[in-house]
Amino acid sequence: MQETLIIEGQYPLYGTVRISGAKNAGLVIIAASIMADGETILDNVPHINDVDVMMHILDQMGVECHWNEDASLSICPPAGEIHKKTPYELAKRVRASNLFLGALLGRQNEATISMPGGCDIGTRPMDLHLKGAQALGAEVDIEHGYIYARAENPKGARVYLDFPSVGATENIMMMAAKTPGTSVIENAAKEPEIVDLANFINSMGGKVRGAGTDVIKVEGVPVLKAVRYAIIPDRIEAGTYMVAAAITGGEVQLENVIPTHVHPIIAKLQETGATITETDNGLIVKAGPRILPADIKTLPYPGFPTDMQSQMLALLSIAEGTSVVVENVFENRFQIVDEFKRMGAKIKVEGHSAVVEGHKNLFGARVKATDLRAGAGLVLMALAARGETVIEDACYIFRGYENIAEKLSNLGAHVK
Ligand code: EPU
Repeated sequence: MQETLIIEGQYPLYGTVRISGAKNAGLVIIAASIMADGETILDNVPHINDVDVMMHILDQMGVECHWNEDASLSICPPAGEIHKKTPYELAKRVRASNLFLGALLGRQNEATISMPGGCDIGTRPMDLHLKGAQALGAEVDIEHGYIYARAENPKGARVYLDFPSVGATENIMMMAAKTPGTSVIENAAKEPEIVDLANFINSMGGKVRGAGTDVIKVEGVPVLKAVRYAIIPDRIEAGTYMVAAAITGGEVQLENVIPTHVHPIIAKLQETGATITETDNGLIVKAGPRILPADIKTLPYPGFPTDMQSQMLALLSIAEGTSVVVENVFENRFQIVDEFKRMGAKIKVEGHSAVVEGHKNLFGARVKATDLRAGAGLVLMALAARGETVIEDACYIFRGYENIAEKLSNLGAHVK
């Protein structure tokens, strides 16, 4: 069924919004849960489509998984071996299915992972994930669209990542958590989701040190025990609502935010003229009288997140002046620009850079989401535009934003 969001723009947003648990921490921690013996209970997992797909994959692996009445998620792997294959039909729907590589190798030294297909935002290779698995002793073959990995005698090792890939760092951490000896990941990713995974593994009895820096040391342990664990808040969902306040000229209080996780976003929003105040468990974002231009370069954490690039592009489209946005992580993330232009944005893309000539005259149009964050960018454009915007393929947006229509409506947006 075609999923559509219809937004009538130019209503300033006011009120309070509660930020959900982090999608990208939740997805990897769901995968990591299969390494424990017994029932893992996860709190603060967002109810989003990507989580549903991960639950279906667990089901196909023979791992029981269900939501509890208190909104927590239970994951109960059976004793003994589980089915080691991620099926193509499900794996192609969520890139994070590749995180079962490290989790399955950690659990039972063998994994068959459907190669994640080409994705809308870029090529997204797996070479660094495989380099890590091989360094720790896995034999890896790629045949008929699947990665076959098997480690007869896994052993801790040193792995240098050519790029601080989030997924590769996570897969290596998971495999290393149960691999005898010490593994060292150099040039590791430093995202808060990596730290959350390390905290989760450590709460299960694992030994991970240095997460959040670019050298992570993991000492393998034979057994990880099941625990109850709460996922961190979603910094990208928070950033999206922060921009929603700024772009509509409103004032929004965000609850359940860790301010240090959104510092790069705070810095850029302040440059555009918004005022941001930290509170006990979140932030208040107040739009400035004018929206000023700002230059942005996306980079791995603690640089400005690529997952906030489309949303900032929307804001800069109505700024008073010209901004330059450089995308350094995913090569196709400017593909949404053509849809933005249908709403009157003046953006010129050349290679990895976009020059945005801001102006106030955005108008509603029929547009199409091309990926999750691009879809979020369209929602923000629609909130600022005159008249009605119809966003097709909104299913992309529902992959990562819990109850987005309801949350925006509660803040005064006109969304159907
Ligand atoms: N890369 C390689 N080789 C590899 C792996 C990655 O060259 O083996 C390159 C990629 O091509 C890309 C760069 O490294 O240019 C970054 O990719 P990374 O591996 O860090 O990204 P990921 O793990 O696939 C996660 C998030 C993304 C987020 C990126 C960057 C999850 C499930 N996904 O992806 O989230 O954009 O990190 O921060 O954690 C989203 O939420 O919308 C989203 C796409």
